[in-house]
Amino acid sequence: MGRPKPPLLVVEDDQGLQAQLKWAYEDFDVIAASDRDSALAALRSAEPAVVTLDLGLPPDPDGTTEGFAILDAIMALKPDTKVIVASGHGARESALQAIERGAYDFYHKPVDIDSLGLVVRRAFNLHRIEAENRRLASRVSENATVLGNIITAAPEMTKVARMIERVGNTGVSVMLLGASGTGKELLARGLHDSSGRKGRAFVAINCAAIPETLLEAELFGHEKGAFTGAVKTTEGKIEQAQGGTLFLDEVGDIPLPLQVKLLRFLQERTIERIGGRKAIAVDTRIVCATHQDLEKMIAAGTFREDLFYRLAEIVVKIPPLAERTGDAVLLAKHFLMRFAREMNPTIKGFAPDALEAIDTWNWPGNVRELENRVKRAIIMADDKLISAEDMDLNQADDDMAEALNLKSARERSDRAMIRHALARSEGNISTSAKLLGISRPTLYDLLKQYDLQP
Ligand SMILES: Nc1ncnc2c1ncn2[C@@H]1O[C@H](COP(=O)(O)OP(=O)(O)OP(=O)(O)O)[C@@H](O)[C@H]1O
Ligand SMILES: [Mg+2]
Repeated sequence: MGRPKPPLLVVEDDQGLQAQLKWAYEDFDVIAASDRDSALAALRSAEPAVVTLDLGLPPDPDGTTEGFAILDAIMALKPDTKVIVASGHGARESALQAIERGAYDFYHKPVDIDSLGLVVRRAFNLHRIEAENRRLASRVSENATVLGNIITAAPEMTKVARMIERVGNTGVSVMLLGASGTGKELLARGLHDSSGRKGRAFVAINCAAIPETLLEAELFGHEKGAFTGAVKTTEGKIEQAQGGTLFLDEVGDIPLPLQVKLLRFLQERTIERIGGRKAIAVDTRIVCATHQDLEKMIAAGTFREDLFYRLAEIVVKIPPLAERTGDAVLLAKHFLMRFAREMNPTIKGFAPDALEAIDTWNWPGNVRELENRVKRAIIMADDKLISAEDMDLNQADDDMAEALNLKSARERSDRAMIRHALARSEGNISTSAKLLGISRPTLYDLLKQYDLQP
Protein backbone atom coordinates (compact mmCIF):
# COMPACT_ATOMS: atom_id res chain seq x y z
CA MET A 1 0.00 0.00 0.00
CA GLY A 2 1.43 3.32 -1.05
CA ARG A 3 -0.05 5.44 1.70
CA PRO A 4 2.62 7.90 2.91
CA LYS A 5 2.99 7.73 6.64
CA PRO A 6 2.74 11.01 8.54
CA PRO A 7 6.00 11.90 10.29
CA LEU A 8 6.10 11.59 14.08
CA LEU A 9 9.08 13.11 15.83
CA VAL A 10 10.21 11.25 18.95
CA VAL A 11 12.66 13.20 21.10
CA GLU A 12 14.11 10.64 23.49
CA ASP A 13 17.64 9.95 24.70
CA ASP A 14 16.99 6.36 25.70
CA GLN A 15 18.08 4.38 22.62
CA GLY A 16 16.16 1.31 23.70
CA LEU A 17 12.93 3.25 24.04
CA GLN A 18 13.55 4.95 20.68
CA ALA A 19 13.74 1.56 19.01
CA GLN A 20 10.66 0.32 20.83
CA LEU A 21 8.61 3.33 19.75
CA LYS A 22 9.75 3.02 16.14
CA TRP A 23 8.53 -0.50 16.16
CA ALA A 24 5.29 0.31 17.95
CA TYR A 25 4.22 3.12 15.65
CA GLU A 26 4.34 1.37 12.33
CA ASP A 27 1.57 3.68 11.06
CA PHE A 28 3.84 6.68 11.41
CA ASP A 29 7.15 7.60 9.94
CA VAL A 30 8.95 7.78 13.27
CA ILE A 31 11.90 10.16 13.29
CA ALA A 32 14.00 9.85 16.41
CA ALA A 33 16.12 12.65 17.87
CA SER A 34 18.09 12.54 21.09
CA ASP A 35 19.09 16.18 21.55
CA ARG A 36 17.98 19.74 20.89
CA ASP A 37 19.85 20.31 17.63
CA SER A 38 18.72 17.15 15.91
CA ALA A 39 15.18 17.64 17.21
CA LEU A 40 14.91 21.15 15.78
CA ALA A 41 16.56 20.10 12.53
CA ALA A 42 13.96 17.34 12.16
CA LEU A 43 11.18 19.78 13.03
CA ARG A 44 12.29 22.08 10.21
CA SER A 45 12.78 19.42 7.58
CA ALA A 46 9.97 16.94 8.26
CA GLU A 47 7.42 19.36 9.78
CA PRO A 48 5.80 16.70 11.96
CA ALA A 49 2.32 17.53 13.23
CA VAL A 50 3.04 15.67 16.45
CA VAL A 51 6.14 15.43 18.63
CA THR A 52 6.68 13.30 21.72
CA LEU A 53 9.23 14.94 23.95
CA ASP A 54 11.09 13.48 26.91
CA LEU A 55 11.65 16.30 29.37
CA GLY A 56 14.78 14.77 30.89
CA LEU A 57 17.44 15.15 28.22
CA PRO A 58 21.19 15.77 28.40
CA PRO A 59 22.81 17.94 29.58
CA ASP A 60 20.08 17.79 32.28
CA PRO A 61 18.85 14.18 32.10
CA ASP A 62 17.40 14.22 35.63
CA GLY A 63 15.80 17.67 35.41
CA THR A 64 13.55 19.39 32.93
CA THR A 65 15.49 22.44 31.75
CA GLU A 66 16.59 20.98 28.42
CA GLY A 67 13.15 19.52 27.74
CA PHE A 68 11.47 22.86 28.42
CA ALA A 69 14.03 24.66 26.26
CA ILE A 70 13.17 22.37 23.36
CA LEU A 71 9.45 22.79 24.00
CA ASP A 72 9.83 26.58 23.91
CA ALA A 73 11.84 26.37 20.71
CA ILE A 74 9.22 24.19 19.04
CA MET A 75 6.42 26.53 20.12
CA ALA A 76 8.33 29.50 18.74
CA LEU A 77 9.13 27.79 15.45
CA LYS A 78 5.90 25.92 14.77
CA PRO A 79 3.24 26.85 17.32
CA ASP A 80 0.64 24.55 15.80
CA THR A 81 2.74 21.46 16.53
CA LYS A 82 1.14 19.09 19.05
CA VAL A 83 3.82 18.29 21.61
CA ILE A 84 3.22 15.41 24.00
CA VAL A 85 5.71 15.51 26.86
CA ALA A 86 6.94 12.52 28.82
CA SER A 87 7.83 13.01 32.41
CA GLY A 88 9.21 10.73 35.06
CA HIS A 89 7.21 9.33 37.93
CA GLY A 90 5.57 11.84 40.22
CA ALA A 91 6.48 14.75 38.03
CA ARG A 92 2.97 16.09 37.78
CA GLU A 93 4.21 19.59 38.48
CA SER A 94 6.47 19.68 35.46
CA ALA A 95 3.82 18.09 33.26
CA LEU A 96 1.38 20.87 34.11
CA GLN A 97 4.07 23.45 33.57
CA ALA A 98 4.66 21.97 30.12
CA ILE A 99 0.97 22.35 29.27
CA GLU A 100 1.15 25.96 30.33
CA ARG A 101 4.05 26.45 27.96
CA GLY A 102 2.02 25.13 25.06
CA ALA A 103 2.36 21.34 25.20
CA TYR A 104 -0.73 19.48 24.01
CA ASP A 105 -0.68 16.63 26.52
CA PHE A 106 1.62 14.61 28.76
CA TYR A 107 2.17 11.01 29.78
CA HIS A 108 4.08 9.39 32.55
CA LYS A 109 6.95 7.01 32.17
CA PRO A 110 7.21 4.08 31.96
CA VAL A 111 5.54 4.22 28.57
CA ASP A 112 2.37 2.28 27.92
CA ILE A 113 2.52 1.96 24.15
CA ASP A 114 -1.21 1.51 23.62
CA SER A 115 -2.38 4.49 25.60
CA LEU A 116 0.39 6.70 24.26
CA GLY A 117 -0.62 5.55 20.79
CA LEU A 118 -4.13 6.77 21.41
CA VAL A 119 -2.90 10.16 22.61
CA VAL A 120 -0.64 10.46 19.56
CA ARG A 121 -3.44 9.56 17.19
CA ARG A 122 -5.80 12.08 18.74
CA ALA A 123 -3.11 14.73 18.51
CA PHE A 124 -2.77 14.05 14.79
CA ASN A 125 -6.52 14.21 14.41
CA LEU A 126 -6.77 17.52 16.24
CA HIS A 127 -3.91 18.95 14.22
CA ARG A 128 -5.76 18.03 11.04
CA ILE A 129 -8.99 19.65 12.28
CA GLU A 130 -7.18 22.84 13.28
CA ALA A 131 -5.21 23.05 10.05
CA GLU A 132 -8.35 22.60 8.04
CA ASN A 133 -10.11 25.19 10.14
CA ARG A 134 -7.40 27.76 9.51
CA ARG A 135 -7.60 27.06 5.81
CA LEU A 136 -11.39 27.41 5.88
CA ALA A 137 -11.33 30.55 8.00
CA SER A 138 -9.12 32.27 5.47
CA ARG A 139 -11.46 31.15 2.74
CA VAL A 140 -14.46 32.67 4.53
CA SER A 141 -13.10 36.17 4.15
CA GLU A 142 -12.39 35.52 0.48
CA ASN A 143 -15.99 34.41 0.14
CA ALA A 144 -17.42 37.49 1.77
CA THR A 145 -20.58 38.35 -0.10
CA VAL A 146 -23.72 40.36 0.47
CA LEU A 147 -24.66 37.31 2.42
CA GLY A 148 -22.26 38.35 5.13
CA ASN A 149 -24.29 36.71 7.88
CA ILE A 150 -23.95 33.30 6.36
CA ILE A 151 -20.86 31.67 7.76
CA THR A 152 -19.51 28.87 5.63
CA ALA A 153 -16.38 27.71 3.91
CA ALA A 154 -17.79 24.43 2.65
CA PRO A 155 -18.11 24.19 -1.11
CA GLU A 156 -21.50 22.50 -0.64
CA MET A 157 -22.84 25.60 1.10
CA THR A 158 -20.87 28.27 -0.76
CA LYS A 159 -22.63 27.05 -3.88
CA VAL A 160 -25.98 27.69 -2.19
CA ALA A 161 -24.97 31.17 -1.02
CA ARG A 162 -23.80 32.13 -4.51
CA MET A 163 -27.02 30.88 -6.01
CA ILE A 164 -29.06 32.95 -3.53
CA GLU A 165 -27.01 35.99 -4.43
CA ARG A 166 -27.46 35.42 -8.15
CA VAL A 167 -31.23 35.01 -8.03
CA GLY A 168 -31.60 37.84 -5.53
CA ASN A 169 -32.23 40.46 -8.15
CA THR A 170 -34.27 38.43 -10.58
CA GLY A 171 -37.57 38.51 -8.73
CA VAL A 172 -38.27 34.83 -9.35
CA SER A 173 -39.96 32.91 -6.58
CA VAL A 174 -37.59 30.76 -4.59
CA MET A 175 -38.31 27.65 -2.57
CA LEU A 176 -35.79 26.75 0.13
CA LEU A 177 -35.65 23.09 1.08
CA GLY A 178 -33.77 22.10 4.18
CA ALA A 179 -34.08 20.27 7.48
CA SER A 180 -34.78 22.24 10.62
CA GLY A 181 -32.04 24.60 11.69
CA THR A 182 -30.20 24.59 8.37
CA GLY A 183 -30.63 28.34 7.93
CA LYS A 184 -33.76 28.67 5.80
CA GLU A 185 -34.86 31.94 7.35
CA LEU A 186 -31.33 33.32 7.28
CA LEU A 187 -31.08 32.56 3.57
CA ALA A 188 -34.53 34.04 2.92
CA ARG A 189 -33.30 37.26 4.51
CA GLY A 190 -30.11 37.03 2.50
CA LEU A 191 -32.18 36.79 -0.65
CA HIS A 192 -34.13 39.87 0.38
CA ASP A 193 -30.95 41.77 1.18
CA SER A 194 -29.35 40.93 -2.12
CA SER A 195 -32.37 42.18 -4.07
CA GLY A 196 -33.50 45.68 -4.95
CA ARG A 197 -36.09 45.28 -2.22
CA LYS A 198 -33.48 45.65 0.49
CA GLY A 199 -34.57 48.40 2.85
CA ARG A 200 -38.25 47.59 2.35
CA ALA A 201 -40.21 45.18 4.55
CA PHE A 202 -39.17 41.57 5.05
CA VAL A 203 -42.22 39.83 6.46
CA ALA A 204 -42.06 36.25 7.68
CA ILE A 205 -44.97 34.02 8.53
CA ASN A 206 -44.73 30.47 9.84
CA CYS A 207 -47.72 28.71 8.33
CA ALA A 208 -47.33 25.73 10.65
CA ALA A 209 -47.48 27.83 13.79
CA ILE A 210 -50.83 29.46 13.12
CA PRO A 211 -54.13 27.58 13.52
CA GLU A 212 -55.87 26.92 10.21
CA THR A 213 -58.84 29.07 11.12
CA LEU A 214 -56.65 32.13 11.68
CA LEU A 215 -54.18 31.64 8.86
CA GLU A 216 -56.39 33.16 6.18
CA ALA A 217 -56.88 36.37 8.13
CA GLU A 218 -53.16 36.45 8.98
CA LEU A 219 -52.25 36.26 5.31
CA PHE A 220 -54.97 38.32 3.68
CA GLY A 221 -56.12 40.65 6.44
CA HIS A 222 -59.74 41.57 7.16
CA GLU A 223 -62.14 44.47 7.13
CA LYS A 224 -63.75 45.76 10.28
CA GLY A 225 -66.77 43.60 11.12
CA ALA A 226 -65.82 40.80 8.72
CA PHE A 227 -66.30 38.29 11.51
CA THR A 228 -66.93 38.28 15.24
CA GLY A 229 -63.99 39.95 16.88
CA ALA A 230 -62.86 41.85 13.79
CA VAL A 231 -63.10 45.17 15.59
CA LYS A 232 -60.92 47.05 13.18
CA THR A 233 -59.61 46.71 9.65
CA THR A 234 -56.28 44.89 9.66
CA GLU A 235 -53.70 44.38 6.93
CA GLY A 236 -52.55 40.82 6.32
CA LYS A 237 -48.92 39.72 6.03
CA ILE A 238 -49.09 39.83 2.25
CA GLU A 239 -50.05 43.49 2.28
CA GLN A 240 -47.46 44.27 4.96
CA ALA A 241 -44.82 42.95 2.58
CA GLN A 242 -45.78 45.57 -0.03
CA GLY A 243 -42.64 46.50 -1.96
CA GLY A 244 -40.61 43.96 -0.02
CA THR A 245 -40.38 40.23 0.49
CA LEU A 246 -42.84 37.76 1.98
CA PHE A 247 -41.30 34.66 3.54
CA LEU A 248 -43.78 31.80 3.76
CA ASP A 249 -42.18 29.37 6.19
CA GLU A 250 -43.49 25.79 6.33
CA VAL A 251 -45.53 26.42 3.20
CA GLY A 252 -46.35 22.69 3.08
CA ASP A 253 -48.63 23.23 6.07
CA ILE A 254 -51.06 25.53 4.26
CA PRO A 255 -54.45 23.80 4.02
CA LEU A 256 -55.85 23.09 0.57
CA PRO A 257 -58.61 25.76 0.47
CA LEU A 258 -56.08 28.41 1.36
CA GLN A 259 -53.67 27.05 -1.24
CA VAL A 260 -56.28 27.96 -3.86
CA LYS A 261 -56.53 31.49 -2.56
CA LEU A 262 -52.76 31.88 -2.42
CA LEU A 263 -52.47 30.62 -5.98
CA ARG A 264 -54.99 33.21 -7.12
CA PHE A 265 -52.91 35.93 -5.50
CA LEU A 266 -49.77 34.69 -7.21
CA GLN A 267 -51.52 34.71 -10.59
CA GLU A 268 -53.26 38.07 -10.27
CA ARG A 269 -51.03 39.83 -7.76
CA THR A 270 -54.04 41.29 -6.05
CA ILE A 271 -55.71 40.37 -2.78
CA GLU A 272 -59.04 40.95 -1.18
CA ARG A 273 -59.17 41.28 2.57
CA ILE A 274 -61.69 39.03 4.29
CA GLY A 275 -65.00 40.88 4.18
CA GLY A 276 -63.56 43.38 1.72
CA ARG A 277 -64.87 44.17 -1.74
CA LYS A 278 -62.02 45.84 -3.52
CA ALA A 279 -58.98 44.19 -5.03
CA ILE A 280 -55.72 45.56 -3.64
CA ALA A 281 -52.62 45.27 -5.82
CA VAL A 282 -49.60 43.97 -3.91
CA ASP A 283 -46.10 43.86 -5.26
CA THR A 284 -44.11 41.44 -3.16
CA ARG A 285 -41.40 38.90 -3.72
CA ILE A 286 -42.32 35.44 -2.48
CA VAL A 287 -39.77 33.20 -0.81
CA CYS A 288 -40.97 30.01 0.80
CA ALA A 289 -39.50 27.14 2.74
CA THR A 290 -40.51 23.74 3.95
CA HIS A 291 -38.98 20.63 5.45
CA GLN A 292 -41.76 18.51 3.95
CA ASP A 293 -41.52 16.41 0.83
CA LEU A 294 -43.86 18.40 -1.41
CA GLU A 295 -43.55 16.00 -4.30
CA LYS A 296 -44.97 13.27 -2.10
CA MET A 297 -47.70 15.64 -0.95
CA ILE A 298 -48.54 16.46 -4.56
CA ALA A 299 -48.77 12.76 -5.36
CA ALA A 300 -51.02 12.29 -2.33
CA GLY A 301 -53.21 15.22 -3.37
CA THR A 302 -52.49 17.33 -0.29
CA PHE A 303 -50.46 20.01 -2.07
CA ARG A 304 -51.48 21.66 -5.34
CA GLU A 305 -49.07 21.08 -8.16
CA ASP A 306 -49.93 24.39 -9.86
CA LEU A 307 -49.15 26.26 -6.63
CA PHE A 308 -45.89 24.37 -6.30
CA TYR A 309 -44.71 25.55 -9.71
CA ARG A 310 -45.67 29.16 -8.92
CA LEU A 311 -43.75 29.03 -5.63
CA ALA A 312 -40.78 27.08 -6.85
CA GLU A 313 -39.47 28.77 -9.95
CA ILE A 314 -36.13 28.06 -8.38
CA VAL A 315 -35.59 25.37 -5.76
CA VAL A 316 -32.59 25.71 -3.47
CA LYS A 317 -31.60 22.64 -1.48
CA ILE A 318 -29.76 23.49 1.73
CA PRO A 319 -27.36 20.74 2.82
CA PRO A 320 -27.47 19.55 6.43
CA LEU A 321 -24.64 20.80 8.60
CA ALA A 322 -23.02 17.35 8.79
CA GLU A 323 -22.47 17.49 5.04
CA ARG A 324 -20.71 20.86 5.10
CA THR A 325 -17.07 19.91 5.40
CA GLY A 326 -15.42 21.69 8.31
CA ASP A 327 -18.30 24.10 8.91
CA ALA A 328 -19.28 22.81 12.34
CA VAL A 329 -15.98 23.87 13.93
CA LEU A 330 -16.00 27.13 12.00
CA LEU A 331 -19.53 28.00 13.12
CA ALA A 332 -18.83 26.92 16.70
CA LYS A 333 -15.92 29.38 16.87
CA HIS A 334 -18.09 32.06 15.30
CA PHE A 335 -20.89 31.58 17.85
CA LEU A 336 -18.39 31.44 20.69
CA MET A 337 -16.91 34.78 19.71
CA ARG A 338 -20.32 36.27 19.29
CA PHE A 339 -21.92 35.10 22.54
CA ALA A 340 -19.00 34.83 24.96
CA ARG A 341 -18.48 38.58 24.87
CA GLU A 342 -21.87 39.34 26.39
CA MET A 343 -22.62 36.12 28.24
CA ASN A 344 -19.30 35.06 29.80
CA PRO A 345 -16.18 36.97 28.72
CA THR A 346 -13.82 34.67 30.65
CA ILE A 347 -14.35 31.98 27.99
CA LYS A 348 -11.42 31.93 25.61
CA GLY A 349 -12.09 28.99 23.31
CA PHE A 350 -12.68 25.27 22.96
CA ALA A 351 -10.65 22.50 24.56
CA PRO A 352 -9.29 19.86 22.16
CA ASP A 353 -11.87 17.27 23.19
CA ALA A 354 -14.64 19.74 22.38
CA LEU A 355 -13.24 20.50 18.93
CA GLU A 356 -12.99 16.81 18.18
CA ALA A 357 -16.54 16.19 19.37
CA ILE A 358 -17.86 19.12 17.32
CA ASP A 359 -16.11 17.82 14.23
CA THR A 360 -17.53 14.31 14.53
CA TRP A 361 -21.03 14.96 15.92
CA ASN A 362 -23.84 14.29 13.48
CA TRP A 363 -25.79 17.52 14.21
CA PRO A 364 -29.35 16.33 13.65
CA GLY A 365 -30.59 19.81 14.63
CA ASN A 366 -28.07 21.48 12.33
CA VAL A 367 -26.88 25.05 12.92
CA ARG A 368 -29.62 25.79 15.40
CA GLU A 369 -28.52 22.86 17.58
CA LEU A 370 -24.91 23.97 17.34
CA GLU A 371 -25.80 27.52 18.30
CA ASN A 372 -27.80 26.30 21.31
CA ARG A 373 -25.07 23.96 22.49
CA VAL A 374 -22.44 26.69 22.29
CA LYS A 375 -24.68 29.08 24.24
CA ARG A 376 -25.33 26.42 26.87
CA ALA A 377 -21.61 25.66 27.14
CA ILE A 378 -20.74 29.33 27.57
CA ILE A 379 -23.06 29.43 30.55
CA MET A 380 -22.00 26.05 31.96
CA ALA A 381 -18.22 26.14 31.56
CA ASP A 382 -16.16 26.52 34.76
CA ASP A 383 -12.97 26.85 32.84
CA LYS A 384 -11.57 29.26 30.27
CA LEU A 385 -11.89 26.51 27.70
CA ILE A 386 -15.17 24.84 26.80
CA SER A 387 -15.05 21.05 27.07
CA ALA A 388 -17.06 18.41 25.23
CA GLU A 389 -18.92 17.86 28.46
CA ASP A 390 -19.93 21.53 28.66
CA MET A 391 -21.44 21.12 25.20
CA ASP A 392 -23.11 17.88 26.32
CA LEU A 393 -21.34 16.11 23.50
CA ASN A 394 -19.92 13.35 25.67
CA GLN A 395 -20.12 10.03 24.00
CA ALA A 396 -21.84 7.23 25.88
CA ASP A 397 -19.69 5.09 28.19
CA ASP A 398 -19.47 2.13 25.87
CA ASP A 399 -18.35 4.55 23.20
CA MET A 400 -15.50 5.57 25.46
CA ALA A 401 -14.51 1.94 25.99
CA GLU A 402 -14.49 1.59 22.26
CA ALA A 403 -12.41 4.73 21.89
CA LEU A 404 -9.72 3.12 24.00
CA ASN A 405 -9.47 0.33 21.51
CA LEU A 406 -6.71 1.23 19.06
CA LYS A 407 -8.15 -0.68 16.17
CA SER A 408 -11.46 1.10 16.30
CA ALA A 409 -9.75 4.45 16.86
CA ARG A 410 -7.77 3.81 13.70
CA GLU A 411 -10.88 2.78 11.84
CA ARG A 412 -12.65 5.92 12.94
CA SER A 413 -9.86 8.19 11.82
CA ASP A 414 -9.64 6.30 8.50
CA ARG A 415 -13.33 6.81 7.96
CA ALA A 416 -13.06 10.50 8.77
CA MET A 417 -10.13 10.98 6.37
CA ILE A 418 -11.92 9.14 3.59
CA ARG A 419 -15.10 11.13 4.09
CA HIS A 420 -13.13 14.38 3.98
CA ALA A 421 -11.29 13.35 0.83
CA LEU A 422 -14.51 12.30 -0.88
CA ALA A 423 -16.23 15.54 0.08
CA ARG A 424 -13.37 17.63 -1.17
CA SER A 425 -13.16 15.80 -4.48
CA GLU A 426 -16.95 15.71 -4.84
CA GLY A 427 -16.96 11.93 -4.77
CA ASN A 428 -14.27 11.44 -7.40
CA ILE A 429 -12.40 8.23 -6.61
CA SER A 430 -9.15 9.00 -8.41
CA THR A 431 -8.86 12.45 -6.86
CA SER A 432 -9.73 11.12 -3.41
CA ALA A 433 -7.16 8.36 -3.71
CA LYS A 434 -4.58 10.94 -4.71
CA LEU A 435 -5.49 13.19 -1.77
CA LEU A 436 -5.17 10.24 0.59
CA GLY A 437 -1.95 9.09 -0.98
CA ILE A 438 -3.26 5.60 -1.70
CA SER A 439 -4.03 3.68 -4.87
CA ARG A 440 -7.51 3.47 -6.35
CA PRO A 441 -7.89 -0.26 -5.63
CA THR A 442 -6.85 0.37 -2.02
CA LEU A 443 -9.47 3.09 -1.71
CA TYR A 444 -12.10 0.77 -3.19
CA ASP A 445 -11.11 -1.88 -0.66
CA LEU A 446 -11.43 0.61 2.21
CA LEU A 447 -14.79 1.86 0.96
CA LYS A 448 -16.02 -1.71 0.94
CA GLN A 449 -14.47 -2.51 4.27
CA TYR A 450 -16.03 0.52 5.96
CA ASP A 451 -19.25 0.34 3.97
CA LEU A 452 -18.88 3.90 2.66
CA GLN A 453 -20.44 5.28 -0.51
CA PRO A 454 -18.33 7.34 -2.91
N1 LIG B 1 -24.49 29.54 7.82
C1 LIG B 1 -24.83 30.18 8.95
N2 LIG B 1 -24.01 31.10 9.47
C2 LIG B 1 -24.33 31.73 10.62
N3 LIG B 1 -25.44 31.52 11.32
C3 LIG B 1 -26.31 30.63 10.86
C4 LIG B 1 -26.06 29.90 9.64
N4 LIG B 1 -27.09 29.08 9.41
C5 LIG B 1 -27.95 29.27 10.43
N5 LIG B 1 -27.50 30.19 11.30
C6 LIG B 1 -28.16 30.60 12.57
O1 LIG B 1 -28.76 29.43 13.09
C7 LIG B 1 -30.06 29.68 13.59
C8 LIG B 1 -31.07 28.87 12.81
O2 LIG B 1 -31.18 29.37 11.49
P1 LIG B 1 -32.60 29.60 10.77
O3 LIG B 1 -33.62 30.07 11.74
O4 LIG B 1 -32.37 30.43 9.57
O5 LIG B 1 -32.88 28.08 10.36
P2 LIG B 1 -34.21 27.43 9.84
O6 LIG B 1 -33.81 26.48 8.78
O7 LIG B 1 -35.21 28.49 9.51
O8 LIG B 1 -34.63 26.63 11.14
P3 LIG B 1 -36.06 26.06 11.57
O9 LIG B 1 -36.35 24.94 10.64
O10 LIG B 1 -35.78 25.60 12.98
O11 LIG B 1 -37.02 27.19 11.48
C9 LIG B 1 -30.26 31.17 13.46
O12 LIG B 1 -29.90 31.78 14.67
C10 LIG B 1 -29.31 31.56 12.35
O13 LIG B 1 -28.89 32.90 12.49
MG1 LIG C 1 -37.11 28.78 10.36
